[in-house]
Amino acid sequence: MATDRVQARFEELRRLINHHNYRYYVLDSPEISDARYDALLRELREMETAHPDLVTSESPTQRVGAPPLDEFGTVAHREPMLSLANAFSLEEFVAWQKRAERLLSGRIFDMVCELKMDGLAVALTYEDGLLVTGATRGDGYRGEDVTLNLRTVRSIPLVLPTGGRFPRRFEVRGEVFLTRAGFKRLNEERAAQGQPLFANPRNAGAGSVRQLDSRVTASRPLDIHIYGLGWAEDGDIPPTHWESLLMLSSLGFKISPHSVRVETTAEVEAFYQRWLEGRDDLLYEADGIVVKMDSFELQREMGAVAREPRWAVAYKFPGIQATTRLLDIGINVGRTGSLNPYAILEPVSVGGVTIRQATLHNEDDIRRKDIRIGDTVVVQRAGEVIPEVVGPVVSLRTGQEWEFLVPPRCPACDTSVVKPEGEVISRCPNASCPAKALERLRHFVCRGAMDIDRVGFKLCQALFEAGLVTDVADFYYLTKDHLLTLERMADKSAENVLASIERSKCSSLSRLLFALGILHVGYEVAYVLAGHFATMDRLTAASQEELSAIPSIGPKIAGSVAAYFQEEDNHSIIDKLRRVGVNMEQPLAVTVARLPLAGMEIVVTGRLESMTRAQAESRIRESGGVVGSGVTRRTTHVVMGANPGFKSEGGRALGTTIIGEEEFIRLMEEPRYSFQAAHSQHPGKPIRLT
Ligand code: IVH
Repeated sequence: MATDRVQARFEELRRLINHHNYRYYVLDSPEISDARYDALLRELREMETAHPDLVTSESPTQRVGAPPLDEFGTVAHREPMLSLANAFSLEEFVAWQKRAERLLSGRIFDMVCELKMDGLAVALTYEDGLLVTGATRGDGYRGEDVTLNLRTVRSIPLVLPTGGRFPRRFEVRGEVFLTRAGFKRLNEERAAQGQPLFANPRNAGAGSVRQLDSRVTASRPLDIHIYGLGWAEDGDIPPTHWESLLMLSSLGFKISPHSVRVETTAEVEAFYQRWLEGRDDLLYEADGIVVKMDSFELQREMGAVAREPRWAVAYKFPGIQATTRLLDIGINVGRTGSLNPYAILEPVSVGGVTIRQATLHNEDDIRRKDIRIGDTVVVQRAGEVIPEVVGPVVSLRTGQEWEFLVPPRCPACDTSVVKPEGEVISRCPNASCPAKALERLRHFVCRGAMDIDRVGFKLCQALFEAGLVTDVADFYYLTKDHLLTLERMADKSAENVLASIERSKCSSLSRLLFALGILHVGYEVAYVLAGHFATMDRLTAASQEELSAIPSIGPKIAGSVAAYFQEEDNHSIIDKLRRVGVNMEQPLAVTVARLPLAGMEIVVTGRLESMTRAQAESRIRESGGVVGSGVTRRTTHVVMGANPGFKSEGGRALGTTIIGEEEFIRLMEEPRYSFQAAHSQHPGKPIRLT
């Protein structure tokens, strides 16, 4: 039997490890180093080995998974796990809202907007503060018992804080998912081991939760966002969904920091648009937003029809993935002569856009993903980027597929292609390959480069074929008469084209450098070079040594930049550009320090460890922030201390972020700057800073 001292240390270790798990996995803000954490865990393990009677299932050492099961047991859901009605447009969302208002006889209701995570729905049951069951959704009425697996997900609390206020038995529901980075890492590992790859994070996440061997689940970087209460007994719950999320957060559950409480259609639409545009910035995949009625009483009144509640709706983003057949692989010659394979697809609609072609990156990528001509493939379209082939659906192979081989000669000029040792891309070495010249023009005008928006690919091609533009400087020597010789070019559009070319003369040096298409000079590198040298003259005079001395410029880039400026042809292009008044300087940016909390309104709740409430409030004010007394639509951050008082007066919060003490302190200490252009060479025409 363990002595009292052992018992006390044992309990302390468990408390500490649970606390640090919470900091790390729920708040994303660890307080101690990994090594320190490992030491605590090791000490606990050793103690448990010496005193096996101390081990209980909620010990943090028990998250490693258990021996495999033959099959999952089933769990009956006490309240069915419903699915959601979908809205695919603002009109459809408004129709949902109107119908809800009608059913409530015109009473208006608050709503909570959340992201719709693309993962696997689970239900977690807690009894007396301990996790007892974790289940999948299954058919909505019965799910699989995946308790052992879910216990390995570090952001799921196994025990709730002692002294916390929560019902004796209750169920929370949420979405388990893999982050995009976790998915990428997992697939890389699988590729290295020659195992088939997962098509997307959703499949990988769902597959990881539904593993009979929970040790496999434990090895996968799974995360969860809790999006609501299922049911509760023996204890009070708040009257609204929003407050129940705050309560769950205070109990250590991970809830999405992006959820907001709103009143109007316009706010819902703003939230939708915010994340439609920003979804690529999320660490995980979201396929829409979910809008829920806030009041539980109104939710009850609304009830459900069929298997969908009437109090919630999923307002979906246009889909980004679909499967189709890879009919063939074509080759484009890039501006650096790279042979870029692209997929020729059986046309398929992805999020309302028909896709016929998609990028395949490079031949190594095709080989790594084992994509074969004739395969059924998953294609993906994200934001405005070019659609890409994610990978093959190996299970649908018929044996009629064949491997792709890079052609030995350039498809545009028939020169033999080269592939230097260690490079992943084959290139056409011919300096005057017409495909390269055209691609250089196309790159020059594109949005991230000189942004000549009236000159698209078709016009580049027409100008090139007519011999009117052969290098990038020729754009600036075009006249209206030239343009009018082209087919389908009217007076007005010719003027617009010329105006658009004229405007581009004020682009910053960084844009110009990027636009020139120097090998290995992407936008970031161009920005570094322009910031360092400030003028084209200084840059062209720089030696390779000077270039490689710049932080973040390696020898490969330095070599390629130096080589570019040694070429006579390139000098003559730059001279031609200079003669017509294209800007060759980087505008100076002056850095203006701002107070770290400027523009923020912060509510502190609970006890902070390193300062009193009064100190926290005066630090917020000193740092330029506003102290809020309750959560309102103006609140930008809620600082959660220990035992947070449950802010039942909590109002609507659009874009409120919940942070811990550590992050709060970091926020105040972080210097913040804003940038302003200090001078411009073209008076009256400010140079674009970025
Ligand atoms: S609420 C009755 N909230 O979407 C309410 N679901 O199509 C149903 N999902 O099975 C769930 N994010 O897996 C809700 N913030 C969120 C969600 C969410 C993702 C999933 C969930 C559910 C499916 C419904």
